[in-house]
Amino acid sequence: MKTQRRMIRLGAFLVAPGYHIGAWRHPHAHADGGLDFGHYRDLVQTAERGKFDMVFLSDGLGVRTPYRDEEELSHWGRSVQFEPLTLLSALAVSTERIGLAATASTTYHEPFNIARQFASLDHLSAGRSGWNVVTSVTDAEARNFNRQTQLDHASRYHRAREFMEVVTGLWDSWEDDAFLYDKEAGRFFDPDKLHILKHQGQHFSVHGPLNLSRAPQGHPVIIQAGASADGQDFAAQWAEVVFTAHQRLDQAQAFYRSVKEQVVEHGRDPEQVKIMPGVFPVIGRTRAEAEDKYAVLQDLVDPVVGLGLLTWLLGDVDVSGYPLDGPLPELPTTEGSISRQQLLYEKARSEGLTIRELYHSVSGGRGHRIVMGTPESIADELEEWFVNGGADGFNVMPPLLPDGLDEFVGLVIPELQRRGLFRTEYEGTTLREHLGLNRPRGAGQRP
Ligand SMILES: Cc1cc2nc3c(=O)[nH]c(=O)nc-3n(C[C@H](O)[C@H](O)[C@H](O)COP(=O)(O)O)c2cc1C
Repeated sequence: MKTQRRMIRLGAFLVAPGYHIGAWRHPHAHADGGLDFGHYRDLVQTAERGKFDMVFLSDGLGVRTPYRDEEELSHWGRSVQFEPLTLLSALAVSTERIGLAATASTTYHEPFNIARQFASLDHLSAGRSGWNVVTSVTDAEARNFNRQTQLDHASRYHRAREFMEVVTGLWDSWEDDAFLYDKEAGRFFDPDKLHILKHQGQHFSVHGPLNLSRAPQGHPVIIQAGASADGQDFAAQWAEVVFTAHQRLDQAQAFYRSVKEQVVEHGRDPEQVKIMPGVFPVIGRTRAEAEDKYAVLQDLVDPVVGLGLLTWLLGDVDVSGYPLDGPLPELPTTEGSISRQQLLYEKARSEGLTIRELYHSVSGGRGHRIVMGTPESIADELEEWFVNGGADGFNVMPPLLPDGLDEFVGLVIPELQRRGLFRTEYEGTTLREHLGLNRPRGAGQRP
C-alpha cells in the first residue's frame, strides 16, 4: 500500500534491559527483563501504541561476550535471553498490527527449518514476520556447533547466498490459492499449484515442498545488516530492509547511495529496499537533562565489561594488553564483523581517542549514532538524515527499558507526527504494508 508522502520507517530494537551496556545496573532497570515475558509484552505494546513499523530482536547462538573466566563473565548483564522466534510467537498473540522481526543465522541452521519457522510466524501473526539474516560473527557461537572457530567471512556469505535460494524457493512451494479443501471431490489441494523445489547445490540438497501453505506476506520481510563489501552485495540481492551503523551523515549518505546502486545492478527497484541506520536516543526535557541521563549510564560501565565489549566490536581482537590510556594499535584483519571493526578504528583515529575513551564512547550506541537532547532536537536530527538521503527510517535502540521506549513513544513520535514525517495510524495490516514493500509473486504467477 503506497502512502501519499514518504514517511520515516521505525523499528524498535529491543534488548532487555536496554541497549546501553551498563543499563542492567540502573535503578529503573528490570535486570531480569531478558527472561520476563510480561516485560517484553509491555514493551511491544508500547511500540505498537507508538505505531512503530516493527519490533526487532537481535540474537546470538550462545554467550557471545568475550570473557577470560567465569568471574569476568559474571559482570555482564546479558548472558541470558529468550530464543527470539519463540518469544515473537508469544508476542504475536499480545499484539495486532506491529511487525515482528527476529534474527536467525544462515551459518548454524538448515534452510528448511528457517523457512518453516518464519512462515509459521507469518501465519500466526497474520502477515507480520520479518527475518534478520545474519551469518554470525563470533567463535563463541561456532563452539556450540561442533567447531572451534567460525567459518571464514567469505565462506559464510557463500553459504548464505545458497541458503536464501533454498528458503525463498521453499516459501514458494505452494501457490497462494493451492488449497481447495474440496470435500466432495476429495481434493485437498490443486496439484498444478504445488511446486516441489528439488534443490541440489554446493551446500544444500533440499527436496521440498514446505509443509506449510504460502505465508500471508508471500515471503516474510528479509532484513540484513552486514555492511562489508560482501555484506552489501548480499543485501543488494536479497534484503528489503538494511540495518546499518553510521556516525555521520556523509558516511550514511555514501552507504545509502552505494547500496541503492547495487540494488539496481541486481535488477531490483531501489524503492523496495529500506535503509535504516541505528540510533541511540537519549531524551531529556532539556539538553542538560539528557546529558545527565547519559552520564548516569556511563558511570555504570564496568571496565571489565567495557574492554570486553571493545574486543567484541573489534571482531574478537583483544586489546587488553595495551595501555588503556594509550592509542588503539593497528588491528589485524578479522573474520568477525569487518564493517564494525572499520567503523571503530576510524572513529578512534579521527577523534584521537585512547582505548579507554573508545570503549566509553561505544558503551551506549556500540557504533550506532547517539542522538541526545530534547524531543525537538532529536526529531531535527532524524529529519536531517531522512530528507538528505541518509536513511529511509531508523532502528531505535532505547538505552534503558522501559524508560527509553516510553519517552520515545510519548515525546519524539508525536513530534515526528506533527511534522508529517510519521504515521498517526497504521494503514495496512502486514509488515510489508507498513514498510511499503510489494508482496512477492509466487511460482506460477511470475511472467
Ligand atoms: C542493527 C544491527 C543488528 C545486528 N544484529 C545482529 C544479530 O542479532 N546477530 C548477529 O549475529 N549479528 C548481528 N548483526 C551483525 C551483522 O548482521 C553482520 O553479521 C555483521 O555486521 C558482519 O557482517 P559484515 O562483516 O558484512 O559487516 C547486526 C548488525 C547491525 C548493524
